[in-house]
Amino acid sequence: MKYLHILPIVGVLFLVGSCRPPDREVFSDIHFRQADSLLQLLTLEEKAGQMTNVGLTALTEGPFWNDFDTLVLDTAKLRHFLIENHIGSIQNKGIYPPSKEEWHRIIKTIQDYIAEHSRHNIPVIYGMDAVHGANYTAGSTLFPHQIGLAASWNPELARITGEVTAYEMRASSQPWNYAPVLDVSMQPLWGRIFETFGEDTHINNVMGKAFVEGQQGSSLADTTRVAVCLKHFVGYGTPLSGKDRSPAFIPEHYLRQYYIEPFRHAIDAGALTVMLNSGSVNGIPGHADKYFITDILKGELGLKGFVLSDWQDVDRLVTMHHVAKDTLEAVKIAVNAGLDMSMTPYDADFAKHVVDLVNAGEIPMSRIDDAVRRILYVKFKLGLFDAPYHDPAGYDKFGSEEFAELSYRAALESITLLKNKDQALPLKYGTNILVSGPGANALTALNGPWSRTWAGDDPSYDDPGKKTLLEALQDVYGEQYVSYTPGTDYEGDVESEAHLLRLADNADVILLALGERPATEKPSDINELDLPANQIELVKRLHKSGKPIILVFLQGRPRVIRTIEPLADAILMAYWPGHEGGRALASLLSGRENPSSKLPYTWPRYSGSLYTYQHKGSDRLGKTFDMDGFNPQWEFGYGLSYTTFHYEELNLSADTIHDNETLSLSITLTNTGNYAGKEVVQLYLRDLVASITPDNRKLIAFEKVHLEPGQIKTLDFTVTYENLQFVNLNNEWIAEKGDFEILIGGKPGNMRTGRFFLNK
Ligand code: BGC
Repeated sequence: MKYLHILPIVGVLFLVGSCRPPDREVFSDIHFRQADSLLQLLTLEEKAGQMTNVGLTALTEGPFWNDFDTLVLDTAKLRHFLIENHIGSIQNKGIYPPSKEEWHRIIKTIQDYIAEHSRHNIPVIYGMDAVHGANYTAGSTLFPHQIGLAASWNPELARITGEVTAYEMRASSQPWNYAPVLDVSMQPLWGRIFETFGEDTHINNVMGKAFVEGQQGSSLADTTRVAVCLKHFVGYGTPLSGKDRSPAFIPEHYLRQYYIEPFRHAIDAGALTVMLNSGSVNGIPGHADKYFITDILKGELGLKGFVLSDWQDVDRLVTMHHVAKDTLEAVKIAVNAGLDMSMTPYDADFAKHVVDLVNAGEIPMSRIDDAVRRILYVKFKLGLFDAPYHDPAGYDKFGSEEFAELSYRAALESITLLKNKDQALPLKYGTNILVSGPGANALTALNGPWSRTWAGDDPSYDDPGKKTLLEALQDVYGEQYVSYTPGTDYEGDVESEAHLLRLADNADVILLALGERPATEKPSDINELDLPANQIELVKRLHKSGKPIILVFLQGRPRVIRTIEPLADAILMAYWPGHEGGRALASLLSGRENPSSKLPYTWPRYSGSLYTYQHKGSDRLGKTFDMDGFNPQWEFGYGLSYTTFHYEELNLSADTIHDNETLSLSITLTNTGNYAGKEVVQLYLRDLVASITPDNRKLIAFEKVHLEPGQIKTLDFTVTYENLQFVNLNNEWIAEKGDFEILIGGKPGNMRTGRFFLNK
């Protein structure tokens, strides 16, 4: 290995060509000094290469989109990309998910090739979408998707998911994760809402931070931790039309109040890289927005690492957004806006364009140096120069029972019980259950997208030994008690009524697993939010049997089910709960475990009435001008348990506070039912009068507590002065004098309340 570039540093080098002088804190960081020192040795071509990220299959035999069973690295392509074009980053996979041993072979070959043939031996940084486990390595642990973690209201589960995912990524020699998704999504039509922590900013702040801490630990050089890449800055999750990558229109004060905060929290927690929004906000494409990238993200939020484009999004400034006449102009716009690395991902043209633009004086060298210094900084921080790949044999917990158990616990806490008429659940042993529906006997229905493949809908990559919902129910109740018929697919024909009723005749209860075919990004776009008609028809046909009906939803979005909700005795929303989701559902259905999850988004009753819980007063105005217009199927924060919790009156420490003071409050709750259970205590604030129409309510804190039957607990919370603030039209956080209401409890619409006054 050549370590020539790791020189003892002299402090003036950073000034050469620097875009903005790094702050003292960064400069005192050894990795920054190493990066800066190495930067001085690079040619323009080498720098441009570092800024380029290509897909793995650009380096392998065959076409980019090949469907080979084994990927074979092509020496001519290695030379072309890694040596002639000095490419600094590789990402992603082909069609199939390689084993950790194959990942080791692939990444070792790439890094060794660089070590042997390049001038400076700068390892590539390998990027991967490990969004619910190291999902692109065969045999890895698959966790619930982010929306399920949000629904658990338990940040510890986000931390554990982050930690295990990091371990299994490093077992696959992958040091850099394109996760977490911190797009607050106030758009239930958007197909990627399942990849997010839902519609509330506070949950995104808390969960995002926990996930980042789990992934990164205390040192990125720890070979069980990885660097995160936060995505997609900013506003991607709330497109006006609901279609992926389509325009968002969000005023800056709302962007700051709701959408930027999760990124701020994650950067404060140590996140070093960020991926940009493929769409546009207020008419400006995310990849062209200098104000957002350079001023806000790198300036105000203080991002120390680098900014990555999304897939081919520099080209899309030409082909999709029409803000550049050709690719050359697109590169100029994006890099000058602050983009540091382009996920091209097919070729090295980006690097060539960067060189031409610098030579033509269209991009200042200082901008290039800033970008490359940031990239090298992250590479040094990750310890890649010392350990560019890892022996998979050193990771004996990979895919272990211990990790599966963690995934199971996460799934248990993520599944929301939405209806339980007359205690239809739990289902007693000895009950004859007829199971049906497209999600009932498929692992793909539990894991959802980004599972072994991008769409996650190919059962040929199913992991042996994992249980579908049907199999898990058969394990718990005994095969003779659990029968099955497919009923229907996600779309298409429904089995005949006569056939279905004949099967129902022999059952005591009917359990239907319904939902969406796994899909993400553009393929997840929908034209209507209603559950597909065939699945509604399946419920209607089976309802004619008169037998109790239990619905289990396996899907990312809250699909409209208004017409079948009254036909069901019990309803569970499982999101995409991961590999242990079948077992977790069987445990919840049988009462071995008690549901404890709450909705992380508002579940609409009508496709034409899409509101989030923060909605404004005017959203509540109904057809008769009464304030009854807000009428979702279920509210954000809603979810049932097999036990009941009683809240005592709320105690506030004061009825008036002043600037920068805090307010303390305590609440006592009792488990008044017969089951041990966990309750999510939610604390909301309502600003009663403000100069910008205030939200209906705003979540400011939550805590999940376990109580045995009869157990009593008192919880203390603090309302800070920051909690009272909102962003005004000058984009400043302010709190205004006036009355505030506190709401606390576990059930929206039935909370303990208190009031206080902010005097200024
Ligand atoms: C997605 C990103 C993802 C990237 C790499 C893009 O199409 O929008 O979320 O990280 O592909 O797979």
